[in-house]
Amino acid sequence: MGVVAATAFLAACTPQGSGTPSGSSAFCDDAKAVGSADELGDKLTTCNDITSYNNFYEFSYGKEDVANLSRNFKTSPWTVTVGGLVNKPGSFSVDELVKKYRPEERIYRMRCVEAWSMVIPWLGFPLSRLLEDVQPKPEAKFVRFLSFYDPQQMTGDRSLPFPYFEGLRLDEAIHDLAILATGLYGKPFPPQDGAPIRLVVPWKYGFKSAKSILKIDLTSEMPPTFWSTLSPEEYGFYANVNPEVAHPRWSQSSERRIGELRRRPTLMFNGYDQVAALYKGMDLKNFY
Ligand code: MTE
Repeated sequence: MGVVAATAFLAACTPQGSGTPSGSSAFCDDAKAVGSADELGDKLTTCNDITSYNNFYEFSYGKEDVANLSRNFKTSPWTVTVGGLVNKPGSFSVDELVKKYRPEERIYRMRCVEAWSMVIPWLGFPLSRLLEDVQPKPEAKFVRFLSFYDPQQMTGDRSLPFPYFEGLRLDEAIHDLAILATGLYGKPFPPQDGAPIRLVVPWKYGFKSAKSILKIDLTSEMPPTFWSTLSPEEYGFYANVNPEVAHPRWSQSSERRIGELRRRPTLMFNGYDQVAALYKGMDLKNFY
């Protein structure tokens, strides 16, 4: 039932969906990015749009309801545990991580599998730095991410298999573009965007970028992931943005940039061609 409900919901959010952000948030009153556009010259999505139009199913299916429903979500203190196939496992508070790795602004496009997109000024640090410090063992080939879940605080559909879980190949995870983000628009995250720490992998569909992460494990086997477990024909492990590979229920060749009226073409790897070497020799139609 949960599977049916969830996938049916995503169908309602196809490119034809008319939902647009409308809220405004106190968070944005003093929020300020350093840059104003991405490297392609595309301007930042407004802070209000980024913080009022969210996918965070632990709270709700309604993108515009998440900010309100998550406003009391307790995100401090928070500890991230890193383990599995590593020589130096450990638990780190978000404060420690911020002190040690000094998040910097990274302006990335985010392309949701539902065919809308934003340009977001994240505050984050390369995931590779944390992974280097825990020293992966030679047999580690993948990284598994587990999000927080507490049904007392989170009001979403309880039949979904929370906590949310995601994964990357180790070589993807240590690519410099993959970051752990702790904020946006120059400030620590508000709850709805994945406070206090989330993954951001800009060349993949947004669902790979797990929010509110509690646990990171290095594994030898490809880990199962939330959406590919719910609906394997529709959502793969790789989930690279690819205009050539349609979702079974809609095209991925164009997208609606939030804040713009006209659709724009979707770019291979969301415009991050520097990751192409990671997939050399792979048929990306099979490994979607
Ligand atoms: N992480 C968790 N834990 N739960 C979720 O429902 N949704 C994903 C991803 N990470 C999700 C998640 C999806 S589908 C998208 S598009 C992005 O978060 C949305 O991020 P945003 O709300 O900050 O734009």
